[in-house]
Amino acid sequence: MADFSLEKDILEDKIKGLSDREIGNKYNVNLKFIEKSITKNLGINISNPVNTLSNPLKIIKKIVPKDFSLEQNTVWSFKSRGSWATHNGNYRGNWSPYIPRNILLKYSNEDDLVLDYFCGSGTTGVEAKLLNRNFIGIDINENAVKLANENADFLTKAADENVKFLEHSRVSIDFMVGDARNLDLINDNSIDLICSHPPYSNIINYTHNNKSDLSNYEVGDFLKEIEKVAKESYRVLKDNKYCSILIGDMRKNKNVIPLGFWTIDKYLKEGFVIKELIIKRQHNCKTTGFWYTNSIKFNFLLLAHEYLVIFKKSDKKKVKNHKSNNTEVSFSQYEKSKIKFIENNNIQQESTTVWIFEKKDWVNNTLNNLIKRYGNGSYSIYNDNPKKSSNLLIYFYDNNFSNFSKDFYNYLEKEGILAIICEDIRVDDNLVYSNPIYIEKYFNKDDKLKIKEIVVIQIKDAYNPNNKNSNLNINHKYLIIYKLNV
Ligand SMILES: C[S@@+](CC[C@H](N)C(=O)[O-])C[C@H]1O[C@@H](n2cnc3c(N)ncnc32)[C@H](O)[C@@H]1O
Repeated sequence: MADFSLEKDILEDKIKGLSDREIGNKYNVNLKFIEKSITKNLGINISNPVNTLSNPLKIIKKIVPKDFSLEQNTVWSFKSRGSWATHNGNYRGNWSPYIPRNILLKYSNEDDLVLDYFCGSGTTGVEAKLLNRNFIGIDINENAVKLANENADFLTKAADENVKFLEHSRVSIDFMVGDARNLDLINDNSIDLICSHPPYSNIINYTHNNKSDLSNYEVGDFLKEIEKVAKESYRVLKDNKYCSILIGDMRKNKNVIPLGFWTIDKYLKEGFVIKELIIKRQHNCKTTGFWYTNSIKFNFLLLAHEYLVIFKKSDKKKVKNHKSNNTEVSFSQYEKSKIKFIENNNIQQESTTVWIFEKKDWVNNTLNNLIKRYGNGSYSIYNDNPKKSSNLLIYFYDNNFSNFSKDFYNYLEKEGILAIICEDIRVDDNLVYSNPIYIEKYFNKDDKLKIKEIVVIQIKDAYNPNNKNSNLNINHKYLIIYKLNV
């Protein structure tokens, strides 16, 4: 039974300006409860009810982010979320405007038609307006659509003469209530770019009891529904154009639920291919104190990344299978590392899912972190005369995968840990083939293996400034960590 007077008190305190932490302590409730009370009573999930509603038309002075430059690598990290134009973090779970800004500039042209079918508070629409793209924003929640309209309703006094946009925008920016699973109002092959940010299953709920809101669906049903969104995306997008989505993983108990890879797979099934697989780092993760201690004590890593995928609508599937010639890259990296690997028990342990190392020592640091966290006295490396029955088996993904997948059990203790080091690779036509997605899909059928973590290894100094083509420089690798349950 809902406690209406408690919800009312929370709302009143919110309006008075108390923080979530203060309210949490006062009524002994968690953030999810506070969010639920606000969403239920105001019809929208916002952190600051005072500032949001009924703002008058704004005149914006700051219409470009300071020192902006386009991202060049596959790992994106924005220290501040961005507060130019009307952008702010009030709508829970909204994305940093740096993301749509990069995507719009890289994958569309002025006067193109851009679609965001999970538009929320309108971040993508605001960027479309600033960058002279026509825009359709759709959201299931009429209150989000109202807020998006307010956020995009501004005039600018452009201080910077390089910015072409002045007081009146020449493009049309439309927000409407609708359902991303059914885009009937939009014609086939009519959209130049899709740039959208779905809910991550039910991590944040955006409405109260709205059956069409995908943030009210558990993982299995969420994936069935997102398949319909992927189908509609393929239908409305023009050939050879791009569809981008940001999606993250979830954690259940101490295991990870790879919602990101599973969602990507739904888009691939509809016929999309991957142009870029970008890692978006999250900065709200604690790497010290309470969380650090718990991460070691309970042996789990804090989720610190999301996947930003740029799909291409290609007429035929050009990225065929994992037996591409390029898979050898992983193997040669191991060959080189053999010479360099030095066991070091004093290494500082990583506590989040993003490990950032320099190129020269990423192998050493990765192996030492794995050994310290999971080795428990015995480990071996499958590519190098592995020992029978280790607590930890490390495998550098290579061309021997089909043999490995049949016999790796022999090298692991019961409840042992299997860590696979792998990467996305650039293939023909400037596309990306993702070995990690392939591997996760392959082992997903095996009930003896339970996925524990997906870690991203960011290679700090891998950027190649001479890379003049339009591809991003792939500067990350993955570690997929399984536990054997036999
Ligand atoms: C992660 S938020 C998007 C936030 C947005 N990028 C922003 O910056 O404000 C996801 C949005 O999807 C909306 N949504 C959920 N189910 C939907 C559906 N079936 N069709 C359209 N929108 C939906 C939610 O109301 C929520 O606003």
